[in-house]
Amino acid sequence: NAMFSWQRSAYHFQPQKNWMNDPNGPLYHKGWYHLFYQYNPYSAIWGNITWGHAVSRDLIHWLYLPLALVPDHWYDIKGVWTGSATILPDAQIIMLYTGETNESVQVQNLAYPANLSDPLLLHWLKYPGNPVMVPPPGIKPDDFRDPTTTWLGPEGTWRLTMGSKFNTTIGISLVYHTTNFRDYELLDGVLHAVPGTGMWECVDFYPVAINGSVALDTSSFGPGIKHVLKASLDNTKVDHYAIGTYAPKTDKWTPDNPEEDVGIGLKVDYGRYYASKTFFDQHKQRRVLWGWINETDTETADLKKGWASLQTIPRTVLYDNKTGTNLLQWPVEEVESLRLNSTMFKEVLVEPGSVVPLDIGTTTQLDILAEFEIEPLISSTTNEIGNCGDGAVDRSTYGPFGLLVIADASLSELTPIYFRPLNASGGTLKTYFCTDETRSSKASDVFKQVYGGKVPVLDDENYNMRVLVDHSIVESFAQGGRTVISSRIYPTEAIYGAARLFLFNNATGVNVRATLKIWELNSAFIRPFPFERDSV
Ligand code: FRU
Repeated sequence: NAMFSWQRSAYHFQPQKNWMNDPNGPLYHKGWYHLFYQYNPYSAIWGNITWGHAVSRDLIHWLYLPLALVPDHWYDIKGVWTGSATILPDAQIIMLYTGETNESVQVQNLAYPANLSDPLLLHWLKYPGNPVMVPPPGIKPDDFRDPTTTWLGPEGTWRLTMGSKFNTTIGISLVYHTTNFRDYELLDGVLHAVPGTGMWECVDFYPVAINGSVALDTSSFGPGIKHVLKASLDNTKVDHYAIGTYAPKTDKWTPDNPEEDVGIGLKVDYGRYYASKTFFDQHKQRRVLWGWINETDTETADLKKGWASLQTIPRTVLYDNKTGTNLLQWPVEEVESLRLNSTMFKEVLVEPGSVVPLDIGTTTQLDILAEFEIEPLISSTTNEIGNCGDGAVDRSTYGPFGLLVIADASLSELTPIYFRPLNASGGTLKTYFCTDETRSSKASDVFKQVYGGKVPVLDDENYNMRVLVDHSIVESFAQGGRTVISSRIYPTEAIYGAARLFLFNNATGVNVRATLKIWELNSAFIRPFPFERDSV
């Protein structure tokens, strides 16, 4: 089916076929990046969960390896669920993952590579004493999953944290201590709790440097360091984070701004995105973020096309020391190795209410850098509210303006990626960064939404965005990565050579001048590892 094959991505990681969800245990070992992932070997919908495994030299080109962990013991027979890796100072690798037992209880299990000198880490052993953690009193058997990477505390004790909930509504993260990775002690208090946020899945907890320029090993703490706490909210399927301070002696974390606490403030990604996880890349001294991008079409369509879900392009994560309020996410530099021919556009004038075509040939695989300057023609005196509005058709004085991606020539299908600066009190602008999927496809059985969130734009800054287009995926980064949106689009007309790119300005009161550099991106090699016969 031509329509379905168009949707398959060309440079995002995805299995050859079938279902994938969360990224698991990412790590770098002996020249290879390893990605494990929640994988159904039998179908394009969730179930029979195992750990798929792939390796890469550069986080872009991937080689599929045999399954790393499969359900084969009573403690994980109903699923080998999400987990994280820790590389110990002596180079030993510890993998902790959730198992769904024969009785549907969530427990934590230990696994480790059979042969550390194997760069591919093909074979994994499960600790005979599994499970190593079972739901403690007060925690329901199905509210106990997804252990983090462990970090070393002040007195030589390793710690990990894991999401759960108290009562029915209070999201929490439990803390365990261990010295040998076989025995674990649950702390009395929790790392953090936020009422009303429900079950926390896939908690991630890591340090960031306040100077904003270096990444830190997961065990770093002390002066000049803040800690990020991320939870994936089971109720809303949104990844939320907050920046705060970690007290290693008491294992308590406090948000910098209680009004922007975990689950009620910032989102890692304002689009279709979940279950993200970072790892410290000791090879390039950076923290790399993975995230799962789900489909928004129907299960029937997924079964027809034979696959569902992708991972984002891995992103580096740093603290934004210019704003002091948010992280900066940016596609890893290796994605730039896919850049082919580029086209420049300088100070293209886009008048209120107009659309300007950008003639660049093929537009299904792009890396776009765009900068926008606005020149007010009138000024707004009223207080404007409403964040992203009802999509890009919703006009205000200063926005929306931006790009129309994967659009057909007649604009019957299009996906606007845009800024919407709104007049806030005192003459200042409050800006939202948004993606409007509502006209992305003529198909009616596709979930379409207006996504977005606020983005800080400092006084001396233009509006800028980077957009990665890969067939049915659009990943958009505003203001150097302060606000990020991933979306899925399934056009019926704007496919293959019919897909076009445009600038638009739907503000009523500003001229926009856009400067762009646009690269066509090559496809990545993502295929089975070329084992010689009988070598596995
Ligand atoms: C998040 C999640 C995890 C769980 C895994 C099961 O998407 O529900 O909490 O471990 O997926 O596949």
